[in-house]
Amino acid sequence: MSETLETEVLAAIEAAGDEASLEAIRVAELGKKGRISEMMKGLGKMSPEERKTEGPRLNGLRDRVQSAITERREVLADAAIAARLATETVDVTLPVRSSPAARGRIHPISQVIDEITAIYADMGFAIAEGPDIETDYYNFTALNFPEGHPAREMHDTFFLQPDESGARKVLRTHTSPVQIRTMETQKPPIRIIIPGKTYRQDSDATHSPMFHQVEGLVVDKSANIGNLKWVLEEFCKAFFEVDSLKMRFRPSFFPFTEPSMEVDIQCDRSRPGEVRFGEGDDWMEILGCGMVHPNVLRAGGLDPDVYQGFAWGMGIDRIAMLKYGMPDLRAFFDADIRWIEHYGFRPLDMPTLFGGLSQ
Ligand code: DAH
Repeated sequence: MSETLETEVLAAIEAAGDEASLEAIRVAELGKKGRISEMMKGLGKMSPEERKTEGPRLNGLRDRVQSAITERREVLADAAIAARLATETVDVTLPVRSSPAARGRIHPISQVIDEITAIYADMGFAIAEGPDIETDYYNFTALNFPEGHPAREMHDTFFLQPDESGARKVLRTHTSPVQIRTMETQKPPIRIIIPGKTYRQDSDATHSPMFHQVEGLVVDKSANIGNLKWVLEEFCKAFFEVDSLKMRFRPSFFPFTEPSMEVDIQCDRSRPGEVRFGEGDDWMEILGCGMVHPNVLRAGGLDPDVYQGFAWGMGIDRIAMLKYGMPDLRAFFDADIRWIEHYGFRPLDMPTLFGGLSQ
């Protein structure tokens, strides 16, 4: 009986077309409840005489079936690999698909923020950030805007719904509130720049309701206007990538600085549709600055008899447009893939002072 069984099982193994059906045979014959296993369990009930002949016969049967299965499994595995190789052909003549890092583009605003960061980092400045949704206190009061002062109106503020106490949060109208937040948490000497998003109710070809500023703040015991002028001049030369550039400081007013100044840089507008920096006899206003007002130092928890500071604030969007010749601010926020392909920057070309800011 076990001879016909053996012929039958070996034939089934030989006929198994894949690893799954081979495994099914193994389980049916040699598994815990398999046919051959059950026969081997019967050995215990046999007389010693019977066992002497049946034992070796059944062991032999089990070993032969087991090795037939192992052999067949190898054959099937080889065949499976061969079949896969036959179907998975690689067409080496196809064009190479570029990687996301090669196709993606950095938005000019992000690029310009990276350039600004690289320049100030080289001078020893750290980056500070604060929330876009600000309290009235940080956006105005702590910056020495008195209640009801017209300067508050000039900011075209977006107000949020008042809370239970009637206080209205605002979308910050400038990056200056981060001056106060930094003074509250860091001891002088403070040397920071604050790049970020700012918001005002204004919208046309040169204004968008969300725009970007970079603020600078230096506080220590001896910070002075001479230092301020040097920092701004070095920044402008590096940013506009010119060897020299004339600057003009005009008296102005901001509640949070005293004295306050506006800064113009030398430019040439004689060629139509083009502005060049560091040459010509025209001027362009690019930033506001001044010595930090004693009330602002006090609001930041610093004693104005011990500490003094200077600060400045500059719009990023417009200088990005000027530097890279982009005529309409609104295109920045249109999410048009053709625009970003044209004006965008390669992700791995990170701006550095030694490697060049804009190439
Ligand atoms: N916060 C001002 C604005 O948005 C810009 C500014 C002017 C910032 C003078 C300053 C500063 O830190 O000193 O118009």
